[in-house]
Amino acid sequence: MSPWLLVALAYLLGSIPFSYIAGRMVKGIDLREHGSGNLGATNTFRVLGAKVAAPVMLFDVLKGTLPVALFPHLEHTNDWRWQLAYGAAAIIGHVFSIYMRFKGGKGVATSAGVFLGLSPVALGVAFAVWLVVLKMTKMVSASSISGALALIVVLLIVPERTEIRILGLAVAAFVIFAHRSNVGRILRGTEPRFGAKKEPEA
Ligand code: G3P
Repeated sequence: MSPWLLVALAYLLGSIPFSYIAGRMVKGIDLREHGSGNLGATNTFRVLGAKVAAPVMLFDVLKGTLPVALFPHLEHTNDWRWQLAYGAAAIIGHVFSIYMRFKGGKGVATSAGVFLGLSPVALGVAFAVWLVVLKMTKMVSASSISGALALIVVLLIVPERTEIRILGLAVAAFVIFAHRSNVGRILRGTEPRFGAKKEPEA
């Protein structure tokens, strides 16, 4: 199969808005109009609860892992850099979903899925940082930003291909940029904490 076709498929796969689908299926609501308005597992948890958010998170992670793990076996270029293009396309699909008028999530779970396939050690450390910061701050946004920063640092320390380091840097910068509204709320002291009742402004 053509690697360009697989890039397009990775984008279409990444575009599948599992949190939106869950909102429609479980409560008949548009998740973009509730909570933070973000189409991600965090907002799914906030609005629909853990039992719905868990599968949404799993599928959002798989949207990133599947293209980097499976698609290289479907083409024969022998150029492993296509694998990075599949991962990038899945993340772009999640954030700019073709099915959602190019709106979507902030890319955390899908990026985690991509780096689970590309650099599991770096992802493991980033995930550990994500957990520790979440426990300390009770803010998923702060832990996601910290995890993205940790990913950059670890990719620079562990032996890794230059292209994977560059992709890690670009993805982490992209994820942090996607959290700019959260950073504003953190600075204003209005970012909701895990388990708190108050919803953030959409
Ligand atoms: O992965 C997104 C998370 O870090 C923040 O989501 O809904 O609080 O903006 P949210």
